[in-house]
Parts: sequence; C-alpha cells; structure tokens
Amino acid sequence: MSEHVKTEIVDGVMTVTLQRPEKKNALTVAMYDAMSDALERAETDGLVRVILFQGDGDSFTAGNDLADFASQSKGDNSAIEGGAHRFIATIGKAKKPLVAAVQGNAVGVGTTMLLHCDLVYLADNARLITPFVNLALVPEAASSFLLPLRIGHARAYAMFALGEPMEASAALACGLANAVVPQTELRKKARDAAIALTKRPAGSLSLTKQLMRDHERIAARMAEEGSLIKERLKTPEAREAFAAFAERRPPDFTKFQA
Ligand code: COA
Repeated sequence: MSEHVKTEIVDGVMTVTLQRPEKKNALTVAMYDAMSDALERAETDGLVRVILFQGDGDSFTAGNDLADFASQSKGDNSAIEGGAHRFIATIGKAKKPLVAAVQGNAVGVGTTMLLHCDLVYLADNARLITPFVNLALVPEAASSFLLPLRIGHARAYAMFALGEPMEASAALACGLANAVVPQTELRKKARDAAIALTKRPAGSLSLTKQLMRDHERIAARMAEEGSLIKERLKTPEAREAFAAFAERRPPDFTKFQA
C-alpha cells in the first residue's frame, strides 16, 4: 500500500496512477511495492485484461527517489533487494498488455519501464531521460540490452552516458512510442487503446507478447545490471552524485579515479 499510488479497475483496465506530483512522482520503496502488488494482482485477477500506467502532475515520474538512493549508498540494503528490484523483475515478466501515458519528465525507470510496455503514448512535452552515468550508476531494467536494440547504440549511449533527454517527437521517430498527442488528449488516447485491447482475445495477446520478448535474456540482463547497481551505489562517485542533487549543485567526479 502507498498513499502515492492509486489503482482502480474499470471495464477490464487496471489503471495505476502515480500520485506524488510535488516530488515529480519520484518513486519510493512503498510506491514500487504498490506498483508490483498491482501488477501481481493483475496477472491473476480475471477482471483485469490490460494495465495502464499514468502519473499525476507535470511529470510522469522523476524515477527512483534520490533520497532513497542516498541512504542505500550509506548501507541500507533493504530497498535495493525489494522496491525497484522487485518492480523491475515483475514488469519484466508481465503477461498481460501494458500501456503507458507519459507527460513531462520520464526519468530513469520512468523511461526504462516503457521498454516493457506494449503501447506507449507521449504528450508533446514528454522528455525521456536515463541519467544513469550522471548518477555514477549503470542502466537498469535490462535497458542496457533493450534500448540499443530499439534505437541503436549511438542514441542509446548518448542517453545513458551523457544523460541527453530525448524529446517526444524524437522518441516517436525512433520507435519508443506509438503516438505523440497534446497533453490534454493523453489520458483519453491511452485509455482508448487500453479499451481496444480489452476486446481482443486475451490468450492470443498473451502469447503474442511472449513471442515478441526474449524473457530469459531480459531476466539475465536484469540480474547482471542489478548486481552492478548494488556495487555502484556504494562507491564514492555515487555518494557524490546523490549529495550533489541534495545540495542542488553539479557533481564533481574529477576527484575520483576509475
Ligand atoms: N527523488 C527525490 N526527489 C525528487 C526527485 C527524485 N528523483 N526528482 C525531483 N525531486 C523533488 C525535488 O527535490 C524537489 O523537491 P523540493 O520541492 O522539496 O525541493 C521537487 O521534487 C521538484 O523538483 P525540481 O527539481 O525542483 O523540479 P524541476 O521541474 O526543476 O526538475 C526533474 C524536474 C525531474 C528534471 C529534476 O527534479 C530531476 O532531475 N530529478 C532527478 C531525477 C533523477 O536523477 N532520478 C533518478 C533516476 S535513476
């Protein structure tokens, strides 16, 4: 349970809404757990045929809560094992169709989770950002495999290593989204698509998704990335990155050797 994640089921669509707009929907451990619970419930609940993710406020999500990362870098391992780790594993093996409606910033897992969604709709102000290297981390959610596969090495590397945001129109052009719409139309567009999926044969949808994804490879890469992130979180570089965010200053990595 999290007060910042609302889940409702209407007409076969489970809508999962992030509701922490004052923090740009940054994801706490409780929020990740609520999202994982929702996905797990959806898999077994016959009333749910499609899951739709959306976020309140001006950002889809600012990704992992950086205060949580900071405490993990000081030794609190509980959240590394649960929270994000569990959500990523759960979304990676979802069998039912996943739809996302994304406005504003989609940072970190806000972007990498889209690689596990089946239909992605972007508002015209959406910006996809994967600043893992700027945080002295490595990519997650099998994005080190899935993003270059989808958009090519050069673009993926710039997003990972330079933290270059990708605007909605570019994301559409390189296959990260199905459509870009004005922000006022975003939720309706995504919901209409989700409703359309509820009318398709569920068994066929599930098998089609399974055929389109190399689940074994995705799970293996998630495990590899997960253990590297665990190590990286403890490094002085990562501590510098989180301190810099908290102090609202640019990080200085030049004082550390590789
Ligand atoms: N974790 C915790 N708090 C966050 C957050 C995060 N990932 N992202 C934003 N917030 C908080 C800010 O600290 C601020 O809180 P405050 O009002 O109490 O000071 C509030 O949300 C608003 O953020 P702000 O930075 O002022 O908004 P902005 O519109 O100028 O910028 C972002 C929005 C998302 C571009 C910017 O907040 C950002 O870069 N966040 C960090 C994203 C990130 O690195 N995530 C981890 C990915 S792995």
